Amino acid sequence: MSVIRDSFHSRLGFVLAAAGSAIGLGNIWGFPTQAANNGGGAFLFVYLIVTVLLAVPALYAEIYLGNQTQKNSVSALMQACQQTMPKVGKAAGLIGLLGAIMMLSFYTIVAGWMLAHALGAFAEIAGFMELATWLNTWSIERNLLFTPIFIFLGAGIIHQGVNAGIEKWSSRLMPLLLFMLIGLIVYILQQPGASEGLAVYLIPDFSQVTNPELVVSAMGQAFFSLSVGVGGMMVYGSYMKKDKNLGKLVLSIAALDTFIAFLAGLLIIPALYVAQHAGQEVFANGQLIGEDQLIFQVLPTLFQSMGDVGLIVAGAFFSLLSIAALTSTISVTEVPVAYLVDDKKHSRTKATWLVSAIVFCASLLVISFFNQLFGLVIQVLTTIIQPLMCLFYFIVIGWLWQRGNKLREHAAINERTSVKLWANYLRFVCPILLSIVFVNVAVLN
Ligand code: PFF
Repeated sequence: MSVIRDSFHSRLGFVLAAAGSAIGLGNIWGFPTQAANNGGGAFLFVYLIVTVLLAVPALYAEIYLGNQTQKNSVSALMQACQQTMPKVGKAAGLIGLLGAIMMLSFYTIVAGWMLAHALGAFAEIAGFMELATWLNTWSIERNLLFTPIFIFLGAGIIHQGVNAGIEKWSSRLMPLLLFMLIGLIVYILQQPGASEGLAVYLIPDFSQVTNPELVVSAMGQAFFSLSVGVGGMMVYGSYMKKDKNLGKLVLSIAALDTFIAFLAGLLIIPALYVAQHAGQEVFANGQLIGEDQLIFQVLPTLFQSMGDVGLIVAGAFFSLLSIAALTSTISVTEVPVAYLVDDKKHSRTKATWLVSAIVFCASLLVISFFNQLFGLVIQVLTTIIQPLMCLFYFIVIGWLWQRGNKLREHAAINERTSVKLWANYLRFVCPILLSIVFVNVAVLN
């Protein structure tokens, strides 16, 4: 007897959950940091191009694979490669699972920082100053407490299932994040120094646009931000009824995600220059000081400048970031969980706790060797594993799946020329473009 798989109850539910996966720390912590480090406007410019040319097609390919097969990421890739090379499909699926664990190993640490800062603001409001200082200061002990708390929160939602857990949570509170970003942007743009930051962000220095390092960083960031290359979007695609019109859904997810990243840059980059104007040291030799800690140095200064209301804004802002991180975390956790439930016949609860325990061990490793591992894991994941997996998706749907006939049939049923063009773009242009970037990465390393 086949067991009915849990599913999203509507297309909107799917779009919100997928947008919840895409919108996260990558947008608000990753994107502005990378943009500030890589020339501001030049990074934004390349990021937008790479998103349109490669990340959106990859998102389409990933969701298409999950949606058509209605299977978890390992079985989906295996099925798509059935007639040609099923073992390679399975191996790629398993690499995706590894990518998911790698992603969670550092993401839950950063999410823990957000949670700590949210509580830090509330502790300060309540007058617990010592506690607030502890919560707002980086320490191994703080990581050791908040990383597991965050993993536990994610597991709590995941084990409730797709509709009751993921769909409900993802559609809540995200609009609030948007309003808050806009409010903060309006505030920061009125501060002295902001216009310099605005110019750096919006006026690209075209001499930097072809810098291969910048292109690779922008591509990694775009793949990370759209959540492609570890299978999260594939499992979400499999929880939606087969849909002939994925294009529109993919575009709305990508547009929402890119818009939020753009807004985050519009807040953080001017905020950096406001902080610099006020005497804070932000850059040394054109690079940011303290990179991944950047927003925790600059944003508190911004909140303080708001007077009494600043603490409430800080608490709300970091709480919303924690929620955004949570909806991304659950999509990645779902990758190995779906595999264990579908293929290994574990109960959802058992699979959830097993995966959480593995993630906890992986993040402990990163915490213990923070200086050596934190940046390295991020770099390997975003500039090697995710793009390689996306390259594989293009090859699978364009060439391996029914020897390319799957996509050709899909294009033939649909008589519009745009669909045929799109299919050819995925088959021919995407793998070539991505390979070119890859050759660049190899040369760079
Ligand atoms: N897109 C998420 C962010 O920008 O924070 C991170 C992410 C989620 C990456 C899901 C990969 C993934 F499968």
